[in-house]
Amino acid sequence: MHSGPQTMTAEAARIDWVALRAAAREAAQSAHAPFSGLRVGAAGLTESGRVVTGCNVESASYGLTLCAECGLISALHRSGAEALTAVVAVDADGRTLTPCGRCRQLLFENGHPELLVDHEPEPLPILALLPEPFAADDLPAETNP
Ligand code: THU
Repeated sequence: MHSGPQTMTAEAARIDWVALRAAAREAAQSAHAPFSGLRVGAAGLTESGRVVTGCNVESASYGLTLCAECGLISALHRSGAEALTAVVAVDADGRTLTPCGRCRQLLFENGHPELLVDHEPEPLPILALLPEPFAADDLPAETNP
């Protein structure tokens, strides 16, 4: 979903990380995490300035667990697909979490090329977290939308 302008400097300057972290922490309150006890909330900012959120939902069949970022991506498409410019994941206490490998891929595919992901001590570009990513244009032409 790389439809936006190639430079995000202006957008980056408008990212309200405090508000995004608060939205992610609020989303963590809806988490269903009876097996790990780790309640995760994720919040993403879209190119048009909307905030979308998700929470993790664990399964008794552990491997089926949905990460908070998965819920965020579903909410993004449900509310009008557009590229993400910033993403935050936190636990219920507001501690910053770094997205797992699968979620880095999902965020990359649904993010602006310069998507920023919250990280300690400071946010990082998605390509710093997922260098040399597999992408839609690695697929055969006939299956690449
Ligand atoms: N989890 C997420 O929600 N996002 C991640 O990026 C990493 C892990 C969740 C999945 C599981 O419910 C719990 O954290 C422990 O792995």
